[in-house]
Amino acid sequence: MIENSSITYRANILYIDDVPLPDIAAQQETPFYIYSLRRALDNLQRIRTAFAELKPHIHYSAKANANMALLRALIGAGAGIDAVSAGEIHRALKAGAAPEDIVFAGVGKTKAEIRYALEQGVGWFNVENVRECSIIDAEAARLRKRTRVALRLNPDIAADTHRHIATGHGKAKFGLTAEQVAELLKQQANFPSVDFAGIHVHIGSNLHSTDATHAALEKALELIAPYPHIRTVNIGGGLPVTYRADEQVPPFESFAETMTPLLKGYEVLLEPGRAIVADAGVLVTSVLYVKQQAGQRFVICDASMSELIRPALYDAHHEIVQMLPTVATDETVIVVGPVCETTDVLGQNVPLPPVKEGDVLAILTAGAYGMVMSSNYNQRPRPAEIVVNEDGKTWHVARRRETWDDMLRFEE
Ligand SMILES: Cc1ncc(COP(=O)(O)O)c(C=O)c1O
Repeated sequence: MIENSSITYRANILYIDDVPLPDIAAQQETPFYIYSLRRALDNLQRIRTAFAELKPHIHYSAKANANMALLRALIGAGAGIDAVSAGEIHRALKAGAAPEDIVFAGVGKTKAEIRYALEQGVGWFNVENVRECSIIDAEAARLRKRTRVALRLNPDIAADTHRHIATGHGKAKFGLTAEQVAELLKQQANFPSVDFAGIHVHIGSNLHSTDATHAALEKALELIAPYPHIRTVNIGGGLPVTYRADEQVPPFESFAETMTPLLKGYEVLLEPGRAIVADAGVLVTSVLYVKQQAGQRFVICDASMSELIRPALYDAHHEIVQMLPTVATDETVIVVGPVCETTDVLGQNVPLPPVKEGDVLAILTAGAYGMVMSSNYNQRPRPAEIVVNEDGKTWHVARRRETWDDMLRFEE
């Protein structure tokens, strides 16, 4: 199984830092998410250490997990925020982010969102189309402000990752083409209220090779080379995470080694999301039923695609383990949820010894793109989020489980 500095077995019991998970599971209704603040902060530090030579500004990508307790802790540790909607900006400000430490990205910012971001004074707009640039310029002029813009290049480079999370190939909706970036840079005088001060490039999430990153960065730098006053490069997110015990992913240091020689002398921004929170989170679920059908053993749990959609959406793999492992086994099962969809499968071919009704399972590496993508599908209340505090010993309910009435709140 995948263990890390915070999520480990000790004497055959799964721990989150110094808290035995069975102790929490005995007090909380399942399913629930649990996060180790310590691990998230360690990950932030691991990235800082790997990229130390570049002294990057790290803007945690709040889309990966926007839990307020996590945001507060990361902001408290000096992270800025990468936000992709006015809602995320609002949340980041409430969590204590300084407006100038927020970068505002996104392929379809509305005029109202642009206005809000300008009023709040966000540090950067990552711009993804020419018309958006004109709107930012016009809105900034109306507010008598000038704002910094990083042009997001779509470098037309295929990243080594799942096709649903690759963003930098030419057919993706993201970013500006190289020709558009070059043209906009020539046109700076026509956009008096924006300052083309940086270039942005993000080719995908969970990157499994550094080659594409290198190529994308070279393209980006080539475009700004004629403009020596442009000194900021935002290289997005993409740092990978180990989801399978037998999987090899390049360490953060490999990405740093690839980028550092190219980026010396530039101000560097990073937008990691997954790499900070994925392995700090676990989705905890109880077994409702075990049934044998069509030569397969189905373990039906109380978690589903409405809590964790990644397996259904991206064929994503999450290790699923027992909280109190019994014996090693060659038997594999299918772990499914109660939602009325055939794709509501949390794990195929999961090696699990015989489990029974009421057993508690842990779905690992679920801290990123888990709760944020959860829904009320089938009128299922969103789960609680528990946080193990930085001391590693105490924990609290950072977001309570929704109720049936919560799901009715916005209807007459
Ligand atoms: C522009 C941008 N920055 C940062 C991220 C965060 O990526 P990751 O979670 O891979 O670090 C994403 C995610 O898709 C993104 O699109």
